[in-house]
This record gives sequence, structure tokens and C-alpha cells, in this order.
Amino acid sequence: MNTKFETITLEQSGDFATLSVSREKSLNALNAQVHTELKECLTQLKENADNLRGLIFTGAGDKAFIAGADIVEMSSMTPEQAFNFAVLGQDVSLLFEELPFPVIACVNGFALGGGCEMAMSCDFIYATETALFGQPEVKLGLIPGFGGTQRLSKLIGRNNAKELIYTGRNVKVDEAKQLGLVVKVFATKEDMLEGATKTLGKISANSPLAVSTAKSVMNEGNDLTIAEGLKVEAKHFGEIFTSYDMKEGTSAFTEKRKANFKGE
Ligand code: HXC
Repeated sequence: MNTKFETITLEQSGDFATLSVSREKSLNALNAQVHTELKECLTQLKENADNLRGLIFTGAGDKAFIAGADIVEMSSMTPEQAFNFAVLGQDVSLLFEELPFPVIACVNGFALGGGCEMAMSCDFIYATETALFGQPEVKLGLIPGFGGTQRLSKLIGRNNAKELIYTGRNVKVDEAKQLGLVVKVFATKEDMLEGATKTLGKISANSPLAVSTAKSVMNEGNDLTIAEGLKVEAKHFGEIFTSYDMKEGTSAFTEKRKANFKGE
């Protein structure tokens, strides 16, 4: 695993890892280097997924998760460079979805523009009381480009998403929770990271194969009609009956003992 990254850090502790964007002076703004390093890191995590059961994605420092794409870098981009920049960030967002274990976005402070978009590509979002969300791109003469025009509607409904994207207004954590963007709110960043680790611990007591299958079926179904999605669900439901974990989980229930899952 390459750990020689300059703008991100990856720390593994047991079965879980914490990935942080680390450009604190620019409030962790996403430039091309951050995205290139995230892409390399997430590709490596995907290829070596057997070592991990969960990932926390956060931003360095106390002020920001990610204050958006780097406006200074974007200001001189050609249309072609801007297109490539959007695709690079979108590739990163898809890699979060493709990881075969859960990813929790831990948001403290600003999660604006590209920051909100990257948080939305994780499985779910935890936040602190200081978290502030928004898609302010139209205030800069831009539109969201790392998935915001697509994922926000799916998470909070089309009308809520349009109101937020057209106004570019900021959303405090209570409203973000009410909208369903945020799942749990914590008093401090430390509490949030501890809470996310506890949640990953609870998840990893379950069958890793069942969790990763549920993740991929839910993500695939997001882009399908209900009838198509149900077909995908039934196919994977049948396939999981060939697994060790399914036999172990159901036997453990009937034998009134704790299941010992292997993830296969
Ligand atoms: C580059 C940024 C930045 C950003 C903050 N900084 N956000 N640099 N890109 N998105 C830098 C500031 O320039 C400043 O650098 C330092 O971080 C600290 O920020 P301040 O503005 O001094 O802090 P504060 O007054 O507390 O204000 C915080 C803030 C503000 C409200 C978050 O920084 C802000 O409005 N940032 C931009 C938020 C935004 O519009 N994001 C969406 C971007 S568009 P110096 O050198 O002066 O200390 C986007 C598109 C995604 O994300 C899709 C792309 C394809």
C-alpha cells in the first residue's frame, strides 16, 4: 500500500481505516492532486479489501470536512480541463460506492459543494453540531460536478434538492438531519469518530459477505426501476445461499449460539 500521499492520510487500526483529506490551510478543498491521491488510495483499498471491514472518511482539523472543490484551481481551467476534473471527482465518488465494506462520512464544519458531494457518495453521513452543508456552486457561476445534481435528489427528494441547489444556501445540521442527509449528530469530532467506529464494530459482527452484497444491491437498485431492482435482489438472495456465512448464520440461530462468520 502506497502511503506516500501528500494531501490525504490513511490510518488503519485493526479491521477499520480512517481516510482524511489533509489540506487544512485551504479547509481541505479538493484540487486535482487530492482527487488523484484519493483515486489511487481507494483503488488500492478495493484491491486489498480482505484486510478491512469498514472505512471512515473525514477532513483534517476542526474547521472543515471539505469546503468544496478548489476554487483557485478551477478559476483558470479550460472547459476540457473542467470536464476532466469533474470526471476525476466522479470516479472517486464511484470508488467509495464500489468498496465492498461500509464507508461512513464523518463531517465536522464545512461540507460545501464538492465536500457535500463526496460525503453523499459514502454509505451514510455522521456529523457534528458545527457541520454546515450546501451546494453553493450557482453562487460561483458553476453547477455541482462531483455528483450533486444526481445524488442529492435521491437522498432528500427532487424538490428539496432543487431548492438547495438553486438557492445555494447553507444547511445547518438540524435541518440536514431532518432532510435525511445526516443520520446521527454528535457534540464533538472525537465523539463522532468514536461513534462511527462503534457502528463499524456492530456492522462487522455481521456477515461481511451479506453486508457487502446488501451494499452493492442497494447501490445498483438506486439506478433501476423497482421491478428491475427486485430482480437484482432476488438473484443475489439466491446466490448467497451458496455461501458459508449463510449456512453458519442460520445454523447458529437454530443451535442458539453466536455465529462465526468468514465472509465467504
Ligand atoms: C479554495 C478555499 C476554499 C475552496 C476555503 N478556501 N474554501 N480555497 N477552494 N473551496 C481557503 C480560503 O481561500 C482561505 O485561504 C482559507 O481556505 C480559509 O478560508 P476563509 O475563507 O478565510 O475562512 P472563513 O472566513 O471561515 O470562511 C469559510 C468558508 C469560505 C465559508 C467555507 O472559505 C468559503 O465560502 N469557501 C468556499 C466554499 C464554496 O463555495 N465551496 C464550493 C466550491 S465549488 P487563504 O489563503 O485566504 O487563507 C465546488 C464544485 C464541485 O465545490 C464540483 C467540481 C467539478
